[in-house]
Amino acid sequence: MYRTHNCNQLNLKNKGENVTLSGWVHRRRDHGGLIFIDLRDRYGLTQIVFDPTDFQNAHQIAEGVRSEYVLKVQGTVRSRLAGAENKELATGEIEILVEDIEILNTALTPPFEIDQDKKVSEEVRLSYRYLDLRRERMKNNILMRHKIIKMIRDFMVEKDFVEVETPILIKGTPEGSREYLVPSRLYTGDFYVLPQSPQQLKQLLMVAGMDKYFQIARCFRDEDQRGDRQPEFTQLDVEMSFVEQEDVIEWTDQLLKKIIAELYPHKKMKFNDFPRMTYLEAMNKYGSDKPDVRFGLEFIDVSEIGEKSSFQVFQKAVENGGVIKAIRVPNGADFSRKDIDELTRIATDNGAKGLAYITMTDEGPKSPILKFLSEEEIKIILEKTKAQKSDIIFFGADSFQTVCESLDKVRLALRDKLELVDDDELAFLWITDFPMFEISKETGELSACHHPFTRPKSEDIELLKTNPVKARSVAYDIVCNGSEIGGGSMRIHEKELQAQVFDALNITKEDAEQRFGHMLKAFEYGAPPHGGIAWGLDRLVMILQNELNIREVIPFPKDQKAKDLMLGAPSPMPTEQVEELGIKIIEED
Ligand code: AMO
Ligand code: AMP
Repeated sequence: MYRTHNCNQLNLKNKGENVTLSGWVHRRRDHGGLIFIDLRDRYGLTQIVFDPTDFQNAHQIAEGVRSEYVLKVQGTVRSRLAGAENKELATGEIEILVEDIEILNTALTPPFEIDQDKKVSEEVRLSYRYLDLRRERMKNNILMRHKIIKMIRDFMVEKDFVEVETPILIKGTPEGSREYLVPSRLYTGDFYVLPQSPQQLKQLLMVAGMDKYFQIARCFRDEDQRGDRQPEFTQLDVEMSFVEQEDVIEWTDQLLKKIIAELYPHKKMKFNDFPRMTYLEAMNKYGSDKPDVRFGLEFIDVSEIGEKSSFQVFQKAVENGGVIKAIRVPNGADFSRKDIDELTRIATDNGAKGLAYITMTDEGPKSPILKFLSEEEIKIILEKTKAQKSDIIFFGADSFQTVCESLDKVRLALRDKLELVDDDELAFLWITDFPMFEISKETGELSACHHPFTRPKSEDIELLKTNPVKARSVAYDIVCNGSEIGGGSMRIHEKELQAQVFDALNITKEDAEQRFGHMLKAFEYGAPPHGGIAWGLDRLVMILQNELNIREVIPFPKDQKAKDLMLGAPSPMPTEQVEELGIKIIEED
């Protein structure tokens, strides 16, 4: 038997008991005579003591023990000396006087210290992920992730959802990201595609009458890596029949609130009822469809001054159909030249041509652009922005999109610079009424904002033919602290409406047949009205665990270049295995 108890179990009630523990050497202190070791397992730490006067043999073996050795020890529970207790530990009032020790395994010196939360390069951490996961913070992230998923499963099952596993080797899905391809051996030249999400399959499950489906689903997207993206990630994927947007929102709210209340009771909820904001409102106020609303600094539209302004920048922006937006920063008048330059760099890095500003000094407004503005213009600015003494006002003047993209980043930089948010506050909100389509920056072509099965708002169906860019969809995102936690929509279940959307997207009948023929066919056999959502589980856990990077809450993530540094994937394969797939590797020169 390796153990009678785990390393977090024993306390004064066990005093005098003879016990056996197994675990890793977390820390070892040699006090001349006595040797103290903190023995660690997943559950916690227990102090074990080796005393040469009582148990010379055990003590002698303990002298050769090093960090991360794996031990089995047997001994008696006793109280710690007065003053040596550790209130932080569940086992902090006792220790084990070891009578017998067995070294179950030795260990090389780890490349970083397991017992401390020191900064270690991510490359080393990911190469030795199994050691990284021994560290307290990482272990906690994984355990909390498990608890969240367990709570989700229990909740979903209780609400009558059925967990269904959908296949991983499928056909391409039209969800916008680049896909991972898997070559077929039996059909050389053909490929399976890894799912970007189970979107089509969950809709087919609705046609199958499954009514309420969920899955903790692995998704694959060959995208550029960022702090909140992984090539392989996990969704809580959900689909329901005979529902409306309200039903999806209702249970999402319920489940999110339950997770926070039961697993994160110390977190503060900014809103008890998660507010709704349309996409347009969010863009207008925050320049983002995933606004961080824990703090203010909302955009104020001052486009009206542009028309006649003698400040070329403002005048041209409005003349070209663009906008002028302002952010008023209370007490920002003491920003240094360097601060302003830094914010300007952020604006220009994100597409803006500059970042005009006015500071509100004791002597009134001051700014390099003031000389270009009429008194009337200044008056409008001060009124609209409600400017006060010691504020600074920043301006973005450009196309709506450029102003949104650049001022959004300026706003977030101000959040961090001025420390405007509390990490333990959660501001969930819904963004609704997304546009059906967006115009691709690269090709100038129309593409689906969410995916082509997304339902248009009934009052906007007419626009599909006349002005598709203006058409809104029954699509919604749940956002928290500036991060898109989940997104979903009501779907099209009628053939005619689907055809209209394909038309708007310039997808020909033949093309639609070739790409989504299976969906269109299924929809002809009695598809119920349906809709759903998918949460990005990794992102949710990241926010709840106060981590800044999604990799911190994924047990075995890929690095920023989509590599698994521990396994060494991707990697070359033996030539014959590659040739069997009908594939020839073209060497790059
Ligand atoms: P969507 O593409 O919006 O919708 O994805 C849903 C949620 O998944 C998370 N997410 C990611 N997380 C980590 N790494 C990534 N690369 C990544 N990409 C997305 C986000 C996002 O909100 N099938 C639809 C859902 C539906 O309509 O029901 C879908 O996948 O948190
Ligand atoms: P300039 O006329 O280029 O010297 O710019 C005068 C001020 O306006 C500077 O503070 C610039 O950063 C700012 N500016 C220039 N272009 C824009 C723009 N498109 N939007 C906002 N501010 C701008």
